Amino acid sequence: MYALFMMFFIIPSLCCPEDQKQVLLQFKSLFIKATNSSSEDPFFALTSWNGSSDCCKWDRVMCSSQSNSRAVIALYLDSLVSISSSEPILVDSMVLAPLFQVKSLIYLDIYSNNLHGKIPGKGFANLSKLVHLDMLLNNFKGSIPPQIFHLKNLQYLDLSSNALNGNLIQEMFSLQNMRVLKLELNFLEGNIPEEIGNLRKLQQLSLRSNKFVGEIPSSILSLKDLKELDLGDNLLIMEIPVEIGDLTNITTLALSDNKLSGGIPSSIQKLSKLETLQLQNNLLSGKIPSWLFDIKSLKNLFLGGNKNLTWNNTAKIVPKCMLSELSLLSCGLAGTIPDWLSTQKSLVYLDLSKNKLEGPFPLWLAEMEIGNIFLSDNQLSELPENVGDASKLMILMLAGNNFSGKIPASITNIYRLLLLDLARNRFTGNSPVFAPDALLAVTDLSYNELSGEVPVTFSQETRILFLGNNNFSGNLPRNLTNLSKLEQLDLHDNKISGELPRFLFQISTLQILSLSNNSLQGSIPDEIANLTSLRILDVSNNNLTGEIPVKFGNMVAMIETPNTLSTISDMFTFLVEINDLVVNWKKSKQGLSSHSLDIYSLLDLSKNKLYGEIPNSLGSLNGLKLLNISYNNISGNIPASFGNLESLESLDLSHNQLSGQIPETLVNLQQLTNLDVSNNKLEGKIPVGGQMDTMDNPSYYANNSGLCGMQISNPCPIEMSPAMPQEDEKIAAWFSWEGVGIGYSVGFFSTVLIIFSTGYFHVAPPPRRRRRRLNGLSSIP
Ligand SMILES: *[C@@H]1O[C@H](CO)[C@@H](O)[C@H](O)[C@H]1NC(C)=O
Ligand SMILES: *[C@@H]1O[C@H](CO)[C@@H](O)[C@H](O)[C@H]1NC(C)=O
Ligand SMILES: *[C@@H]1O[C@H](CO)[C@@H](O)[C@H](O)[C@H]1NC(C)=O
Ligand SMILES: *[C@@H]1O[C@H](CO)[C@@H](O)[C@H](O)[C@H]1NC(C)=O
Ligand SMILES: *[C@@H]1O[C@H](CO)[C@@H](O)[C@H](O)[C@H]1NC(C)=O
Ligand SMILES: *[C@@H]1O[C@H](CO)[C@@H](O)[C@H](O)[C@H]1NC(C)=O
Ligand SMILES: *[C@@H]1O[C@H](CO)[C@@H](O)[C@H](O)[C@H]1NC(C)=O
Ligand SMILES: *[C@@H]1O[C@H](CO)[C@@H](O)[C@H](O)[C@H]1NC(C)=O
Ligand SMILES: *[C@@H]1O[C@H](CO)[C@@H](O)[C@H](O)[C@H]1NC(C)=O
Ligand SMILES: *[C@@H]1O[C@H](CO)[C@@H](O)[C@H](O)[C@H]1NC(C)=O
Ligand SMILES: *[C@@H]1O[C@H](CO)[C@@H](O)[C@H](O)[C@H]1NC(C)=O
Ligand SMILES: *[C@@H]1O[C@H](CO)[C@@H](O)[C@H](O)[C@H]1NC(C)=O
Repeated sequence: MYALFMMFFIIPSLCCPEDQKQVLLQFKSLFIKATNSSSEDPFFALTSWNGSSDCCKWDRVMCSSQSNSRAVIALYLDSLVSISSSEPILVDSMVLAPLFQVKSLIYLDIYSNNLHGKIPGKGFANLSKLVHLDMLLNNFKGSIPPQIFHLKNLQYLDLSSNALNGNLIQEMFSLQNMRVLKLELNFLEGNIPEEIGNLRKLQQLSLRSNKFVGEIPSSILSLKDLKELDLGDNLLIMEIPVEIGDLTNITTLALSDNKLSGGIPSSIQKLSKLETLQLQNNLLSGKIPSWLFDIKSLKNLFLGGNKNLTWNNTAKIVPKCMLSELSLLSCGLAGTIPDWLSTQKSLVYLDLSKNKLEGPFPLWLAEMEIGNIFLSDNQLSELPENVGDASKLMILMLAGNNFSGKIPASITNIYRLLLLDLARNRFTGNSPVFAPDALLAVTDLSYNELSGEVPVTFSQETRILFLGNNNFSGNLPRNLTNLSKLEQLDLHDNKISGELPRFLFQISTLQILSLSNNSLQGSIPDEIANLTSLRILDVSNNNLTGEIPVKFGNMVAMIETPNTLSTISDMFTFLVEINDLVVNWKKSKQGLSSHSLDIYSLLDLSKNKLYGEIPNSLGSLNGLKLLNISYNNISGNIPASFGNLESLESLDLSHNQLSGQIPETLVNLQQLTNLDVSNNKLEGKIPVGGQMDTMDNPSYYANNSGLCGMQISNPCPIEMSPAMPQEDEKIAAWFSWEGVGIGYSVGFFSTVLIIFSTGYFHVAPPPRRRRRRLNGLSSIP
């Protein structure tokens, strides 16, 4: 279609019709008004739309070349707003109104514009010549208006909500929602209407990442020209209909991330052009049929994440296909990694995580040119010395296996490696020496038996370094400062000794630092406040002494509420699973899943030998969700300034020498769900009101010098006690904030959003930019 337009285009001819020019100018001015864009801005996409020139010469406009008229036939109006701004602008779908007068339109792209409101059905009814309609990545809500189904010439319809994997973008928005409730993400919902079957010429249909419920309408199964059908990431419930096998032109069938049940219908064998089959993350059951591998055209097969869909471990596979992507995550594969995979010379993505594979990481696998290997959570036991031959690897996930011995040094030869996860194995020795100019951004060696000095020979690109739960000893090495982009450093549960070195505070990029359960001593230097990005600091369970530095009150990142969306522009994002950061969260060890680390701000100084008074300045850290000073020798009063810690959900001051009263200001802590002041010398009345009324576990007040209050059923002497609050008020307060807390179960892994700048990637250019983003992302379940 595109090529055809280009041919017409070279014939110079008349100007565009004046009425169409006027409505396009109207659209431009509505759009400017809605988005605060500026026509003067050279980056504004519609700057060339100038009333004194021929609209056929404008950017993003294409006209017909018929001799009698040069009507506008195509508008490429995608991505007119930037989705990267910290507060995405929602653009009212009313701005589209002028376009509905351009009845000659054949091709309309309005994807990625944050368009908001209902899809203007009446307007689209005017555009009866439309062949191509792309509305991906907008913010439309409601159902698909019936008028769309009268666009009988449509061959391409994309209403998917976003260009990224739906989970991913919802994830990001839900993070944002934690604080910024004004952000509203809408979805198309309801059933997929039967009328979709009216669009008899449809070749590509995507309704991905919406909230469509119910069944796949049978009328879709009569659209014989369909080549790409993507209904992934909705709430569809049914068995995959047998008639799907009648869509013989299908090349892409994507039904992943729904609630589809039953088996994989054998009619799929009839789809002789099938290249991409995405059925992952449903409720499918039965054995994975071996005939799938007889479909010669098949390239991308995603079946993982269906709990009851299992691999036939006795089947002999002789593939007739040449796969480039394969996910059999959690499919019950047993035995060694199947040999037949070695015939799949084009494989770039292999996910066999969460199976029961044992034996070695095969030599032939290292010699293939795979870019992403996910083998976490199996029982593999041997990593060959030559694993470094896998020179195309970008992601290597081998966590949770039974590997032992030294980490093969050759692994450092993999120049393109970005993410290496060897956590939860039994590796010994120290880390191999990575070249400083390697690309490796994420390294997780935690939960092994590594020993020696804390290794620092990692890439200069290192963002995330997890070395916790090993047997590293000695002082923190000075060369840590060579990791000048380090954002997350986790060294918990090792045997690190010595003082907190001042050079540590030069790593100004550091956002997360966990040193808990080591043998650090000395005091916490004032320079800690130089870590202006630090949001999570956990030095619990060491031997630190001295006073809590007053300068803590200057920890900028613990004061501000973080904003994750602002970092997304021009980044290549994808999803992988890495270990959680383990912290003490409300009285128990919890894994903070990596994708929500961005919104957390925690300060844990517990189980040390800190003394002196709590500085008032701690009350300025109003981004903190958790403050734990328990098990120290802190004396003096609880500062009234703690009433300013407006984000605080958990405050643990137990096992100190604190005296005086619990300050009234704690009543202001509306997020508080956990307060422990036990084992101090506190006295007087426990404040009443707000969340304080729900802080009524007597053991959290025990062993003080005379606390009283209704929370512990120990009424204060009459003169101290105002009226008791009504019982029903108390009940209301009980549930009102409970849901605000982010209760994580302890988990070892979670999905993490890894954001790299595009500069890391030297992948072959995709046929179409946008499709790459869509397929590339959705293909990583
Ligand atoms: C547009 O800009 C004006 C002035 O710069 C500002 O007052 C207004 O809030 C902005 N509106 C939006 C939607 O950003
Ligand atoms: C519109 O285009 C004409 C000729 O290309 C130019 O002279 C004029 O400055 C432009 N006007 C605006 C407002 O950009
Ligand atoms: C359809 O087009 C006509 C004229 O071209 C216009 O008057 C009318 O407003 C359009 N309908 C809608 C809903 O935009
Ligand atoms: C779909 O396949 C049929 C044959 O099964 C063929 O006649 C038809 O042209 C195909 N449509 C397209 C758009 O390729
Ligand atoms: C999986 O199979 C088991 C036993 O056959 C059954 O109890 C369970 O409900 C199934 N789960 C799903 C998600 O279908
Ligand atoms: C599993 O594989 C064996 C050996 O090829 C075959 O006999 C059996 O029918 C297969 N089972 C299923 C359910 O496909
Ligand atoms: C792990 O490897 C050890 C030998 O290194 C072996 O004894 C043990 O059985 C293996 N465990 C599993 C679960 O495969
Ligand atoms: C840890 O290192 C110490 C010596 O520093 C050694 O005695 C101990 O056995 C090691 N523990 C493990 C689990 O490797
Ligand atoms: C520290 O870094 C310097 C320069 O980058 C290097 O010469 C030195 O060998 C490193 N020291 C250690 C102990 O790695
Ligand atoms: C590494 O750190 C050391 C100090 O520990 C410093 O002397 C050296 O210049 C650094 N090297 C690089 C490449 O930054
Ligand atoms: C901390 O910051 C201060 C002022 O910016 C600077 O003088 C000092 O050298 C820094 N200390 C460290 C250890 O980086
Ligand atoms: C703290 O120091 C004392 C001696 O000063 C020692 O007995 C204890 O083991 C140390 N604790 C830790 C966690 O290193």
